[in-house]
Amino acid sequence: MDAPLTNVETSMESLNKYHPLSPNGMDDVSRNESGNPAFDTVLQARLSRRTLLKGSFAATAATMFGTGLAEAQGGGSGGGSNARRPRLMDFSVVAKHTDDFLAIPEGYTAQVLYRLGDPISHAVADYMNDGSDSAASFEFRSGDHHDGMHYFGLGHRGFGPNPGNAKRGLLVINHENITQSFLHSASEVAVGFATASRVPAQIDKEVNAHGISIIEVVRDRNGFEINKSSRYNRRLTAASPMDISGPARGHAMMVTRYSPAGEMTRGTLNNCANGYTPWGTYLTCEENWAGYFKRPASSTLGAKAAASQNRYIGSGASNGSYGWANPAGGDTSGTDQYKRWDITPGSGTAAEDYRNAANTMGWVVEVDPYDPDAKPRKRTALGRCGHEGAMPGKVIPGKPLVYYMGDDARGEYIYKYVSTRKWHPSDAVRNNLEMGDKYLDDGKLYVARFNADGTGVWIELSIANPAIAGYAGYAFADQVDVLINCRIAADAVGATPMDRPEWTGVHPATGDVYVTLTNNTDRGKTGTTGGGKPRGLDAANPRYYDEDGTKGNVNGHVIRMREDRREADATTFEWDVYLFGAESDKFGDSNINVSSLTDDNDFSSPDGLWFSQVIPGLMWLQTDDGAYTDTTNCMMLAAVPGKYGDGGEVEIENLAVPSNGGADQTVVTYVGKPASDRTLRRFLVGPKGCEITGVSETPDGRAIFVNIQHPGEDTAATEVAGDTGNYQSHWPDAGAARPRSSTIVITKDDGGVIGT
Ligand code: FEO
Ligand code: CA
Ligand code: CA
Ligand code: CA
Repeated sequence: MDAPLTNVETSMESLNKYHPLSPNGMDDVSRNESGNPAFDTVLQARLSRRTLLKGSFAATAATMFGTGLAEAQGGGSGGGSNARRPRLMDFSVVAKHTDDFLAIPEGYTAQVLYRLGDPISHAVADYMNDGSDSAASFEFRSGDHHDGMHYFGLGHRGFGPNPGNAKRGLLVINHENITQSFLHSASEVAVGFATASRVPAQIDKEVNAHGISIIEVVRDRNGFEINKSSRYNRRLTAASPMDISGPARGHAMMVTRYSPAGEMTRGTLNNCANGYTPWGTYLTCEENWAGYFKRPASSTLGAKAAASQNRYIGSGASNGSYGWANPAGGDTSGTDQYKRWDITPGSGTAAEDYRNAANTMGWVVEVDPYDPDAKPRKRTALGRCGHEGAMPGKVIPGKPLVYYMGDDARGEYIYKYVSTRKWHPSDAVRNNLEMGDKYLDDGKLYVARFNADGTGVWIELSIANPAIAGYAGYAFADQVDVLINCRIAADAVGATPMDRPEWTGVHPATGDVYVTLTNNTDRGKTGTTGGGKPRGLDAANPRYYDEDGTKGNVNGHVIRMREDRREADATTFEWDVYLFGAESDKFGDSNINVSSLTDDNDFSSPDGLWFSQVIPGLMWLQTDDGAYTDTTNCMMLAAVPGKYGDGGEVEIENLAVPSNGGADQTVVTYVGKPASDRTLRRFLVGPKGCEITGVSETPDGRAIFVNIQHPGEDTAATEVAGDTGNYQSHWPDAGAARPRSSTIVITKDDGGVIGT
């Protein structure tokens, strides 16, 4: 790097494993695995500054200890020349494990870069990690539950954008949620967090631990560091002012006491996966925001408000998962900072209460990392749902920009946004939100229907569609109402309820669209999905687990679409299933381990999915699992997918399917080529209780950033309350420390490209 840095510092770190009170629990089943820290304290030496984790932790304890943790070693060579074209997938397979350490391949080094609570300013003290850190300090500390992220290159002297700079950049990181008990002191945890009455300072801390981080990272000979002096470092929290942009700006359904004009809101919430734009901005996506709001029983509401609440939030009354609307002593803030979480209508107008506050969440939000003063804009043209992420299609001059989006809840849909304006390459250099106004505020929103014959249709969600305008389940007022309640509009047009759509990714060469369907424990059961659709099996969601254990699609799959004529704005497509998750001991059972996964690449509950923009065809696949956790912690695999249609038609026999009247059911579907050692290989296994989510790379492909979310999340609150130090995980700080969600950076010891 060119500019000298002063006082830089390097810090050192499920299907469904959320605490029952977590807002994320609404689409997730809980699992119950008692925490046993066993030999973590032996293996995990204290990770102090500049401590690096070397690869190959996957063997015996002795081996791990011997090669595992070397103080103050030099990391990668910082990008030494590598003249030979690297061979993909040449790394050693990382074995599954259930212990409390991070495993990566031999010849790789992982550095813990940014942990929960780490300061982003010299003015803020190091994190105590005992619950004593103040709420206000979190405006300058890392939030919790690191998730989607993206690296934006900075100029060599630290000014402005330089997309090609691999050694100095801005890392933008989502903080999806919190592990509540780890944020507070033992005595506070002992009292508990009853949602009817909360300590205001606790609420403030929890609010500030949500949102996103923007941090400057710099690489030198010793690895990456956070530049705590950077002008760009900032936190956006669940309280930060944001603009409503696009069609819903100023609409009556966005009016709140905070913004009677319906043009603003406070905060971004439950930021899960992400996306980015060709003009250098970040997209953060609001997923499980619904559970945070205090709400009345929907039966007390008018027909439309009730239908919307039922479809998005729930019919019963609730204080909200964390009780943020209920500070002890009431909201005396003068700014409604707690009242804003209560969507109960008052007796006056919408401008006098927060009945519409939930309409201001559930969006894709654009953030300009290069302008510390820029207020984020919620891009309402992309629809409101449980947005997992928003990844772009191929960016082609003269063609519209396209974003693919999953709505992650059981039986929800896959969406696509197509801009009205055609892409002009000269716009790529304008790193500002006005470009977003041009491309992201005006377009068409589509939802996917998957047909049994392997074809599919993108159905436009337009008030001009009689199926929407005349829908019996909800009287849409206008197109903004369609965008705000796009789940209901999608119900109206017969979209296909999927097995929890998570990340999307577009293969940079083929343009094939990949979507992880993480799992769906409802699939094949009786009853209906959120949209009132039956839960029966279909070609695109064809599996009902037929052995012991939880039924439904417990291991998930990855679906793949090829747009008609490979045009991203097409309205028809063909599809197959790229991969089915499965356990390797079902090898040979073509009804369960459909993709022939082995010990070296078996996985369950795919979630993060991301194509390298540097290494053509290299894909990363990450898991958020609770079904296979008796055998392995969550993981990341490298993949080299083929292309749509490289497999063929198969029949999946499902035994005793409840939605089929308890009879066996054979479903015809279309499956890609089976996985092999050259196309799918385990690269990383995380510590106990974590999920692996979020990945980005430097523009030379020689470093990747990965997030380790909520290690130790299955720790019982009683252990925290008792200050026993008996946490499920102590990663990354080891000893008796509370675990911390963290961003890690992985480099190759020979300076080579990651994944080779
Ligand atoms: Fe935040 Fe659907 O994962
Ligand atoms: Ca999560
Ligand atoms: Ca996810
Ligand atoms: Ca997930």
